[in-house]
Amino acid sequence: MISVGIVGGTGYTGVELLRLLLRHPQVTVRVLTSRTEAGKRVSEMFPSLRGHTDLEFSDLNEDLLKQCDVVFFATPHGVAMKHAKVLVESGVKVIDLAADFRLQNLEQFEKWYGLQHECPDVLKSSVYGLPELNREKIKTAQVVGNPGCYPTTVQLGLAPLLQADVALIKPSSIIVDAKSGVSGAGRKASLGMIYTENADNFKAYGVAGHRHHPEIVEALENISGQTGVFDQLLFVPHLVPMIRGMLSTIYVDLTDEGANSDLQSLYEVYYAHERFVDVMPANSSPETRSVRGSNELRIALYKPQPNKLIILSVQDNLVKGAAGQAVQNMNLMFNFDEATGLDGIGLLP
Ligand SMILES: NC(=O)c1ccc[n+]([C@@H]2O[C@H](COP(=O)([O-])OP(=O)(O)OC[C@H]3O[C@@H](n4cnc5c(N)ncnc54)[C@H](OP(=O)(O)O)[C@@H]3O)[C@@H](O)[C@H]2O)c1
Repeated sequence: MISVGIVGGTGYTGVELLRLLLRHPQVTVRVLTSRTEAGKRVSEMFPSLRGHTDLEFSDLNEDLLKQCDVVFFATPHGVAMKHAKVLVESGVKVIDLAADFRLQNLEQFEKWYGLQHECPDVLKSSVYGLPELNREKIKTAQVVGNPGCYPTTVQLGLAPLLQADVALIKPSSIIVDAKSGVSGAGRKASLGMIYTENADNFKAYGVAGHRHHPEIVEALENISGQTGVFDQLLFVPHLVPMIRGMLSTIYVDLTDEGANSDLQSLYEVYYAHERFVDVMPANSSPETRSVRGSNELRIALYKPQPNKLIILSVQDNLVKGAAGQAVQNMNLMFNFDEATGLDGIGLLP
């Protein structure tokens, strides 16, 4: 059994972590923090957890966190990097669901997040936590930066193409048209997130620039081993009036080699042994509700023109896009079976 701390227990990814970890056979959740609700029983705030835990929220106390084997930060960016060094020095593993340990390029981090990184040395030794692509490094990591939700759909959607022996796509042609449910913005109150602003409405946001753009570019460079070729990538996120779920539609131009390849088989073989990536039959339509509450990501391919490919990639933003992926990382870091606690099936209808 390992003991776990969650910083940011009142937020959507925090409570999703708790939902998953309370069913995990090798974990005891010891600490769950909140700056505003210390002393309150978790089940008073989240009635779904009544009868499943007696935990109370507590203040963020580093001495308590140091007694854990692993601490998840389900907090806004800038929080984990304040505590990571002390925790690492005490032998505690850290998994950050925010962006403090995602971008290795400090200049990009400071530009997009408006903060100076507080522990660049820890960042340097941290590992980007996308298990399907980085499994071996995650196993020995002390600090893991859990990927952003949109970047997860894009990387898993493109990886088989980018890691092929021959150039199958034209990297400068990639367009990502992505949609997220409203829980992607977290639980904190803000005018743009209230019911009347979102129900019966559909809009793009961050069109001029979104923080996940540099993360996607850096990650695709790492996956492909090519630098400077993804800068033209277009990424437009949208907000849709649903609670959970994310769909990325990715458009790419194929090279002659790509146009003549059996891409469906390429994807099926590439993900054949991945428990959380499902390649659907060609011309399927993956739906967000098919992954609601589960750690799965579903992919389908379309080839509408001989040299064009459309990749559809869906996930639950709070599970494979955040808390589920973080638990998958924890399982790897502690040498548990990777799927432990993550075998829930999507909730449909
Ligand atoms: N929502 C998603 O789909 C999603 C997906 C991928 C990644 N993420 C990332 O995961 C992180 C958490 O997202 P979320 O959606 O769960 O956010 P959220 O619902 O707004 O929750 C944020 C949590 O952090 C705590 N918190 C806020 N400021 C803090 C501070 N300065 N120090 C300590 N605790 C603080 C809040 O608790 P108190 O106010 O009670 O202290 C709350 O529990 C974010 O970085 C987000 O970008 C979210």
